[in-house]
Amino acid sequence: MNQQYVIKGGRPLTGEVVIGGAKNAALGILAAAIMTDGRCFIDNVPDVRDVNVLLQAMDGIGATIDRKSRHEVIISGKDIDASGDLIVDNEYIRKIRASYYLIGALLGKYRKAQVVLPGGCDIGARPIDQHIKGFRALGATVKIEQGYVIAEAEDLIGAHIYLDVVSVGATINIMMAASMAKGHTIIENAAKEPHIVDVANFLNSMGANIRGAGTDVIRIKGVEQFHDTEYSIIPDQIEAGTFMMAAAVTHGDVLIRNVIPKHLEAISAKLTEIGAEVEESDDAVRVTATRRLKHTQIKTLPYPGFPTDMQPQMAVTLGLSKGTSTITESIFENRFRYVDELVKMGANFKIVESNTAIIYGVEKYTGAKLEAPDLRAGAALVIAALAADGYTTISEIGYILRGYERFDEKLRGLGGLVEMVSSEKDANKFIYKTGTNG
Ligand code: UD1
Repeated sequence: MNQQYVIKGGRPLTGEVVIGGAKNAALGILAAAIMTDGRCFIDNVPDVRDVNVLLQAMDGIGATIDRKSRHEVIISGKDIDASGDLIVDNEYIRKIRASYYLIGALLGKYRKAQVVLPGGCDIGARPIDQHIKGFRALGATVKIEQGYVIAEAEDLIGAHIYLDVVSVGATINIMMAASMAKGHTIIENAAKEPHIVDVANFLNSMGANIRGAGTDVIRIKGVEQFHDTEYSIIPDQIEAGTFMMAAAVTHGDVLIRNVIPKHLEAISAKLTEIGAEVEESDDAVRVTATRRLKHTQIKTLPYPGFPTDMQPQMAVTLGLSKGTSTITESIFENRFRYVDELVKMGANFKIVESNTAIIYGVEKYTGAKLEAPDLRAGAALVIAALAADGYTTISEIGYILRGYERFDEKLRGLGGLVEMVSSEKDANKFIYKTGTNG
């Protein structure tokens, strides 16, 4: 049997949890680190599968990856051999999204890259046309052949680029390549997510000249070379948001530490609106919910709007709230695959026009046998299970491990009855242990 979570629900989560570094910032920052031949010391790196897969792929092209501790790494691009084609490929990197950041990083530094087409969660079409448009505007030729993105340039020259859609990946990728192009680049209609600002700050700490990250116009003056740096990655907004929802849906009381409350505003505002209490301090939020929550309407939007990566967790919460809620998913077209699983727990959802969920709140969920359909939906099912009556098993948790570090351990720290098991025997042991007064 593959690894599964087995969960006994029905207990409020209480206590404190510490949030790790932001996965999506880390992926951009680690890829960008190969752009210097100096030494990048990077701290607050989350120990999650996507990050480890990216580091392995970077090692595969000759970058030096020196893991100092679980959350600290020293990276240098000095020993990358750029005499031949720079090919990034292995069976693991094919499955993640952020492989595309190596195109921007390698193209910027070496003027060439061959990277296997990005994979990632199946939540919609996820094209990379805006990335390619940006690289071409900088003077690169970009082809897609036999499953690879092949980019090369005699030289990269700064350009004025208007993104047709607000894309996190394209904004970061173009920013990386342009930071080593000749002259000035302007990216208009740029994404504004906190991790865009974090990657820009990191690049600037290596000597790049990027202004305006966090607004929709980013201005970049290319430089020839980067130098050593030391950098600490921002806390993970989505991990924090997931624990906020877990506290609310279990009617718990959780202090979520090492966060930037400003990054959580869209989530805090919705939780407050439906009747939870959210108390902010400098680097923590405390979420309490004492009674049944209320319904609301939500539409996912680029930052500072409600994040699409919190949509399934919010849906789980609204599924138990009083009244009828709606959620409209405006970023990805295929992000309601978890609904079939939630229905097995007694949820009452109706999907209309493929991108809107009408949620008729029920009083309780009951435990069921579930399968995680993707990363964030997988985490959402864990939260549902913690709030449900009885036992739930969740398979395909490899998705969840891509983005959450020690998720089960952190939940146990809050009193959640969760165990990661890899055999029937261990599952039964957990059920026996928690069976009587759990
Ligand atoms: C990143 C995050 C992901 C998050 C998403 C939106 C990483 C590794 N992943 O994904 O967790 O859900 O941002 O916040 O950081 N699009 C195009 N053409 C492109 C690029 C994007 O049409 O070239 C569209 C996409 O199909 C989607 C929208 O733009 O509808 C947003 O995508 P984007 O912001 O690029 O998401 P990712 O970078 O894939």
